[in-house]
Amino acid sequence: MAKVKETAQVISQEQLSDDIFSMWIHTEAIASQAHAGQFISVYSNDGSKLLPRPISICEIDKEQGRLRIVYRTVGDGTKEFSGYQAGDPIVILGPLGNGFPQLPAEKSVFLIGGGIGIPPMLELAKELSCKKTAVLGYRDVLFLNEEFAPYADVVLATEDGSAGTKGNVLDAIRENGLQADVIMACGPTPMLRAIKAYAQEHGIECYLSLEEKMACGVGACLACVCKSKEVDGHSHVHNKRICKDGPVFKAEEVEL
Ligand SMILES: Cc1cc2nc3c(=O)[nH]c(=O)nc-3n(C[C@H](O)[C@H](O)[C@H](O)COP(=O)(O)OP(=O)(O)OC[C@H]3O[C@@H](n4cnc5c(N)ncnc54)[C@H](O)[C@@H]3O)c2cc1C
Ligand code: FES
Repeated sequence: MAKVKETAQVISQEQLSDDIFSMWIHTEAIASQAHAGQFISVYSNDGSKLLPRPISICEIDKEQGRLRIVYRTVGDGTKEFSGYQAGDPIVILGPLGNGFPQLPAEKSVFLIGGGIGIPPMLELAKELSCKKTAVLGYRDVLFLNEEFAPYADVVLATEDGSAGTKGNVLDAIRENGLQADVIMACGPTPMLRAIKAYAQEHGIECYLSLEEKMACGVGACLACVCKSKEVDGHSHVHNKRICKDGPVFKAEEVEL
C-alpha cells in the first residue's frame, strides 16, 4: 500500500456543532486504499505552519472516491480547515497508520469513542460485520451518534447527564449490563487508560487508537513515540511510533 500526497478537492463542509466540522474530500487515490482507524495528514496553506495536522478518517466511500473527516477546531490549523468550502483545494497525505483489525463474524465488540475519538469508530462500525455496540462518550453536545444507528446498537454517556448515562463510557457499559468479546476504542488518554484496565480485569481482547501529538506523521521524526511492551516478550520496553506503528495498538502493548 503506497501513501499518496496530493492536492485534493473539498466536496462539502458542514458545521455539526459550535466547534465540530464535517468535511468530505474527493481523493480517489487515498479512498481506494484506506480502511477504518487510519488517518490523513492535512496541510495548512499558511507557509509558517509546515507541519501537517493528523485527522482520522471518519468515512470512506470507495465507489465515489471520497473520504470524510470530522474534526474539532482547537487551533490555527483546524480553524483554517473549517473555512474551506466546496471546490477548494486541500493538500493531504494518506492513508497513514495501521488501522483496526477485522474481526470474525461470531465475535461481539464494543466500539468505544470519546469526544473527538468518535469519528474513526463510524467507519469501523460500517466495516465490521460482527455484533457491534457503539458506546459513545461526550462532554455535553452530541454529534454523529445518529449516524451509528444503521450499523450498531448505540449507547450514550454524557458528563452532564443530558443524554444517556451520566458519567463516562465505562459507567454506561456497567449501567446497561453490557458485555462483549472485544473492545476497540479511540479517545483521550485517561479514557483509554481506564478502558485498558477494564479490559485487563475482564480478560477482554482490546485495541486502542492513540491520538498523540505528531509532527512528520510518517515515522521519520520520532515526535510521537510511546512506550511499548512486545506482547510476546517479557519486560522489554521499546519506543513505538504512533504514526507508523499505530495509531492502533493492542492494549497490553502500550504504556499509557
Ligand atoms: C492519529 C490522530 C488522529 C486524529 N484524529 C482527529 C480527528 O479525527 N478529529 C479531530 O478533531 N482531531 C483529531 N486529532 C487531533 C488533531 O490532530 C489536532 O487537534 C490538530 O492537529 C490541532 O491542530 P491545530 O493547528 O488546530 O491546533 P494547534 O495550534 O496545533 O494546537 C491547539 C491545541 O490543541 C492541542 N493539540 C494539538 N494536537 C493535539 C493532539 N493530537 N491531541 C490532543 N491535543 C492536541 C495543542 O496542545 C493545543 O493546546 C488526531 C490526532 C492524531 C494524532
Ligand atoms: S510524527 Fe514523526 S515519527 Fe511519528
